[in-house]
Amino acid sequence: MLRRLPLLLLAYSLTLASLLAQHGYTPADVEDGGRLFRANCANCHGPDGNFIPGIDLGRNRFKTASTDSDLVRVIRIGVPGTAMPPNNYSEFQATTIVAYLRSMAADEARAGALGGDPARGKTWYEKSDCATCHRVKGVGSRQGPDLTEIGAIRRAGELERSLLEPDAEVLQASRLLQIAAKDGITVTGIMLNQDAFSVQILDTKDQLRSIPRDTIRDQSFVTKSPMPSYRDKLNAQELADLVSYLASLKGAAAP
Ligand code: HEC
Ligand code: HEC
Repeated sequence: MLRRLPLLLLAYSLTLASLLAQHGYTPADVEDGGRLFRANCANCHGPDGNFIPGIDLGRNRFKTASTDSDLVRVIRIGVPGTAMPPNNYSEFQATTIVAYLRSMAADEARAGALGGDPARGKTWYEKSDCATCHRVKGVGSRQGPDLTEIGAIRRAGELERSLLEPDAEVLQASRLLQIAAKDGITVTGIMLNQDAFSVQILDTKDQLRSIPRDTIRDQSFVTKSPMPSYRDKLNAQELADLVSYLASLKGAAAP
């Protein structure tokens, strides 16, 4: 076991080198980088990366850095003499943040090219079935995540992926629990709470149900998203419109 370690390390650094060389980031790297960015960078740089004058992290605009390795270095050692702090990330973690920044820029360029119209997107949202599962500013259902602030926490590319491939990443908090009772009845819903005696779920009709443990035969999480894919229901323009509507949702106070 011990003798295999150097090989593993070698494989690791080769992966890193090829990541940097080819921009071959996996969606999981981008996701990880996004989490680090939201937790550690967005407070100064803003969720879109454009709060600091002269720098727009989501549009590849920096002061001195330009290559991926410049960015990895800046992220790890900071910019001495400024508020940009050094960070304790491994080179790999810093690379995932760079992957995220590059994907923000790519999404931005794509969204800009399509020119979505948020007003048309809102109309589409309202005439489609989104509100049977989602809420915006208090209107709609609680089956899916509340979308009131979705534009503040997700990038255009992530929103687009949610609409086209909802199964790609099902949020932990939204996974559906399927409970088979001993009497043969199956109930599906979002798990709200559980204790030694019962499991409480919000079923697919938005009804709160408490199911005694001693009546449960089997329970398991559903790995597929409850959300249907809209790939065949939206053309490219409608998709751009809907994404720009969702991107405009930045909280209850926003217009
Ligand atoms: C405490 C506030 C703060 C935090 C936290 C912070 N930054 Fe910065 N960052 C700055 C400031 C201020 C600058 C501008 C420095 C300058 O004037 O050159 C900067 C500059 C940068 C630059 C441009 C450097 C260049 O050479 O052009 C990048 C890239 C960057 N930050 C990325 C990040 C990332 C990624 C994170 C999170 C891991 C992060 N920053 C966290 C304040 C911060
Ligand atoms: C049958 C219920 C259902 C319908 C209909 C539905 N969704 Fe969803 N949606 C969900 C659930 C549940 C999730 C969370 C699980 C997941 O990530 O797939 C979700 C996730 C999302 C997300 C990602 C949220 C996040 O935090 O990243 C977005 C954006 C979204 N839906 C938008 C829409 C839009 C727009 C429509 C209409 C075109 C729609 N949904 C229709 C149930 C639904």
